[in-house]
Amino acid sequence: MRRSLAQLPRPAIAPSILASDFAHLADEIARVEAGGADLLHLDVMDGHFVPNLTIGPAVVEKVRAVTDLLLDVHLMIEEPARYIQAFAAAGADSITFHAEVVSDPEALAARIRELGCTAGITINPDGPLDRVREAVPHVDMVLMMTIFAGFGGQAFMPEVLPNIRKVKGWLREGQRLEADGGVQASTTPMAAEAGVDTFVAGTAVFRTPDHDYGRAIAELRRLAAGGL
Ligand code: DX5
Ligand code: ZN
Repeated sequence: MRRSLAQLPRPAIAPSILASDFAHLADEIARVEAGGADLLHLDVMDGHFVPNLTIGPAVVEKVRAVTDLLLDVHLMIEEPARYIQAFAAAGADSITFHAEVVSDPEALAARIRELGCTAGITINPDGPLDRVREAVPHVDMVLMMTIFAGFGGQAFMPEVLPNIRKVKGWLREGQRLEADGGVQASTTPMAAEAGVDTFVAGTAVFRTPDHDYGRAIAELRRLAAGGL
C-alpha cells in the first residue's frame, strides 16, 4: 500500500541516504527507521542535470523491500518523464522532479499521480519560481533546494528563505513544503520559520559524530517544531 505524504506528522524528518554507508544500506535504513525517521529521501542523479551519479530504480526496489518508511524519490535527472514509471514500479511513494527540465509540470505531475504516487516539484536556488507557482495547484509537495543540487555536505543557502516564504504563501492546506541541502541543527530553525514542514537531512543524520541517528533526528524535529 502506498504511503501518503499528507498523513505524515509536521514537522517531518527525511534522512537522505546519500550520506549513508551504501555498503550497509539495509542496516543504515533500519537505524533511521528505528530512530524515528518519518520518511526516507532517495537522491537520483544522472550525471547530466547534475554532475554526480547515484542510484536508479533497482536500488529503490531493494530499499522498498527493507523498510516501511515512505520513499521520497528526488529526481535530479534531465528526462524525468522517461523514468517515472520505473520508479513507481520500484516502490516510490513520492516522486519529485526539477522544474528546470520540465516544460509542462502539470502534465508530468498528473502522470505521476496516475502511477499511484504523490508528485513534487523542485527548483535549485536560481530556478524558475514562476513555473513552481503555476504548478502548485497540481502537486502534493514543493521541494525548495537550499543548495545547488548534486552533492551532499554543502552549506545551507539562507538567500533561498525569501522564496520559501513566497511558496509557503501559495500552498493550500495539506500540501507540503520540503527543504533539501545543508539542513542541520543551526539551519533548521530558520527553515521552519520560513514555512518548511519537511526536512531532508543527509550529513546531519548519517554523519553525526556520535553515530546516534535517533538523537540527531530527534534534535532536528525539536528544532523544527520550535520554529513552526
Ligand atoms: C543533494 C541532495 C540532498 C543531499 C543533502 O543534491 O538533493 O538530498 O543528500 O545532503 P546534506 O543534508 O548533507 O546537505
Ligand atoms: Zn535530495
